[in-house]
Amino acid sequence: MKRIPSNRPFFPNRSEFDKLVDGIWERKWITNQGDLVTELEKKMGDFLEVPHISFVSSGTTGLQLALKCLPEKGEVITTPFSYPATTNAIIQEGFTPIFADILPGKLTVDPAVIKSLIGPKTAAIMPVHVYGNNCDTDAIDEISGEFNIPAIYDAAHSFGARKGGKSIFGKGDFSVLSTHATKMFHTANGGFVVCKTAQDRQRIDRLKNFGHNGPNTFELPGINGKNSELHAAMGLCNMMHANAILEKRKNQWAYYRDALQKQTGIELLQLSDEAGYNGAYFPVIFKSADLCRKAIDEGVKRQIELRKYFSPSLNQLQYLDYQVCPVAESTASRTCCLPLYHEMERAEQDRVIALIASL
Ligand SMILES: Cc1ncc(COP(=O)(O)O)c(C=O)c1O
Repeated sequence: MKRIPSNRPFFPNRSEFDKLVDGIWERKWITNQGDLVTELEKKMGDFLEVPHISFVSSGTTGLQLALKCLPEKGEVITTPFSYPATTNAIIQEGFTPIFADILPGKLTVDPAVIKSLIGPKTAAIMPVHVYGNNCDTDAIDEISGEFNIPAIYDAAHSFGARKGGKSIFGKGDFSVLSTHATKMFHTANGGFVVCKTAQDRQRIDRLKNFGHNGPNTFELPGINGKNSELHAAMGLCNMMHANAILEKRKNQWAYYRDALQKQTGIELLQLSDEAGYNGAYFPVIFKSADLCRKAIDEGVKRQIELRKYFSPSLNQLQYLDYQVCPVAESTASRTCCLPLYHEMERAEQDRVIALIASL
């Protein structure tokens, strides 16, 4: 029986990649804002419909760079239902994470809870478009405007996501995309920081390059958050297939949804904008943690990898003081993502559907 992994990176044609790599060898330029990085930033900006965008070494670094742009340290209101990268970026930059519980079903942060947690120490809001499901950006941007607190969206999963017919990357002060190999669109490792203004983009560009603003002048205490020509080459190859990747993913997603709705009573993600959803992940929410464990064990027997993504709920991370978030804790204990990747075939999806239906 062929093993079904939870995820598998998209591989462009080797010849497409080789052609771009030949150019790197000819130019003898491998990092520090080479031609391919500049071209990828332009193409990604066009794809995401945003003018100010910077290619960085990872999504996590992107979150950290955006946080470095804040004028003061303090508390960052965020969601407990995410990958630890979100919370860890906040901690690494010297801020305190404050967790606002999530909306059941949609799994994105509850704007009413965000509002209730705003205080004199609030430095920013960092919501996550969970599994590519847009959070309530209208409510969050309104809160951000009312209290004059920047919103940094963790848009790690949001490649191609739209809201009301427009790219979700137009929202907030910053949005950070991950292009790690496990993401629907990837650059092997990497990420993009989308900025609201040209000044912020310039700041991110300097911060990701040690703070240089000239060959021997340093304006800011920056880091090495740049990405390379080799990663940009992978991104440019994948960009040639971006629309096909998105379209196929949406079809695979709809296939799972239709079959699971017909054959099982399992709870599925409530999409905030169905037409604009990118199909990034397919989470299923079991009735209990026991049932979720049983599904994972049964998957092991059938060579199907179900991934508990995200668990634990981040308010329960052992290195943090505990904050109460009952919805996220319960959801994290009984949610897992079904295998989903570009090359996945219908027959493989059918095996996964049969597994869930058998429980
Ligand atoms: C929600 C979320 N935010 C941030 C990240 C970090 O992205 P990266 O792996 O590119 O650092 C991830 C990684 O998977 C993620 O799932």
